[in-house]
Amino acid sequence: MINIVKTQPYSDQKMGTGGLRKKTKVMMQPNYFENFIQSVFNAIGGVKGKTYVVGGDGRFFNAEAIQRFIKMAAANGVKKLIIGQNGFMSTPAGSNVMLKNHTDGGFIFSASHNPGGENGDFGVKYANETAGQVPTAVTDRIFEESKKISEYKICDSKDIDLKNLGLQKLEDMEIEVIDPVADYVEMMQRIFDFDALKQLFKSGFTIRFDAMNAVTGPYAIRIFEEILGAAKGSVIRATPLPDFGGLHPDPNLIYAKDLVDFMYSDKATDFAAANDGDGDRNMILGRKFFVTPSDSLAILTDNCKLIPAYKNGIYGVAKSAATSTAVCRVAEKNNIPYYVVPTGWKYFVNLMDSNRITLCGEESFGTGSSHIREKDGIWAILFWLSIIAKTGKTVEEITRENWKKYGRSYYMRFDYEGLDTTVADKLMADLEAKLPSLKGKKFGSYEVKEAAPFVYNDPVDGSVTKNGLVIDFTNQAKITYRLSGTGSSGATLRVYLELPEYNDFDQDTLETLQPLLKIASDVAEIQQRTGKTKADVNT
Ligand code: G1P
Ligand code: ZN
Repeated sequence: MINIVKTQPYSDQKMGTGGLRKKTKVMMQPNYFENFIQSVFNAIGGVKGKTYVVGGDGRFFNAEAIQRFIKMAAANGVKKLIIGQNGFMSTPAGSNVMLKNHTDGGFIFSASHNPGGENGDFGVKYANETAGQVPTAVTDRIFEESKKISEYKICDSKDIDLKNLGLQKLEDMEIEVIDPVADYVEMMQRIFDFDALKQLFKSGFTIRFDAMNAVTGPYAIRIFEEILGAAKGSVIRATPLPDFGGLHPDPNLIYAKDLVDFMYSDKATDFAAANDGDGDRNMILGRKFFVTPSDSLAILTDNCKLIPAYKNGIYGVAKSAATSTAVCRVAEKNNIPYYVVPTGWKYFVNLMDSNRITLCGEESFGTGSSHIREKDGIWAILFWLSIIAKTGKTVEEITRENWKKYGRSYYMRFDYEGLDTTVADKLMADLEAKLPSLKGKKFGSYEVKEAAPFVYNDPVDGSVTKNGLVIDFTNQAKITYRLSGTGSSGATLRVYLELPEYNDFDQDTLETLQPLLKIASDVAEIQQRTGKTKADVNT
């Protein structure tokens, strides 16, 4: 039976860079989740006859959200849902299932790398028929719908069994429960040379993969241990938990500190990596060695011909504006077209769909290629392992070789979290107004070459996006400021610093960037305005 439930709108259902992301308790308010889902359905002109992929990263409220979603989809006339067993599906695996089945899109319930649990965050990622995040025009429409919603449709039925694989029905809607790992593995086998990877592990190569108690555990066990032959126990924290065991499932130097400490200890394995909550981010480590995500993108680009799927070359490569210019140097020297886009995967999707790029990445531990329309954590790891397998070199050797060939960008990001939104907005507005006056200004040995907002003209859909403020110096140093678009409350100011260097690759990054950090915080008056003497998180 289909119920039409009367409801009142909420005013805060605006999607950010990674979908709708809120405190779990906010999401669990009466009708909150349902309002948003119905708003999406309404904004896209209804979902009658459509097919969607559904899954999540297993965080608290996931199971409940999926059941409610299924009942709403059936009530709204969806033709078919393809759902990961037990409601699990990583973001990259979901994108693959969407592409493979030519669906109308999908819904992945995840707040990505944000903490989970009752007091953590919950999120809804909505992808359209491109199998990637929807353009701003669509998210704006959804937001408008959410502000005027007055009712939603939902089936009055018992919960659907998501434990058993196979087909079932709810009203006229077909539900197919699939193994979320199988298709993903098949895709990876098409991209990489699995025999070479098996050989690597046979030779005694050791790894540690930290799934951070999130969705990629089962994918990693199947691929690294069962198929490729990595030693049992190589994958740690492999069982997805509703609160990620209290972890902040963000693979970086701060939140994956255990893994970093392990790799700097005498017990270190040859290689280590971690993924985030929904499996789209990655961190790469060698013995006593950390690879910045910006360098990682440059290295993958430079070595792409070692991978079967990219052996004939790539269309091009793209990075977000905040990411270091390391990949641009690789692209320029090798005559590979490259693009610099605003933060957010959707800009890459346009470039992929129009065959302008194959590889892309962001400084925030996201790397991917056109095999899907999301970033892909396990793919990045398999790429690195393939480079190691084909060259016989260590992570550190591969990285140093890249620096020698193209220079090293000393790079770091500083996050000032939990700011009052009014304070943060004003800081950015005042800084923007001040930018023209900075040109030619000297700060010690640093001289400003150019200071302007970053503006992107999308070559595919013609849209214009302004995202962040950039100060370029004559010595190639760069400061980028932007406000986070993924927070669930308050504002976060991100300050990104880069200094390319062509001779000395053994400096301490923080020390090297210290003068630039001082300029960045003085110019934006960070301390005066936010009261913070230093950033909350440096990565
Ligand atoms: C952050 C990252 C950005 C990434 C997004 C989704 O967004 O900085 O690169 O695309 O998460 O994973 P932000 O909070 O900075 O808007
Ligand atoms: Zn994620």
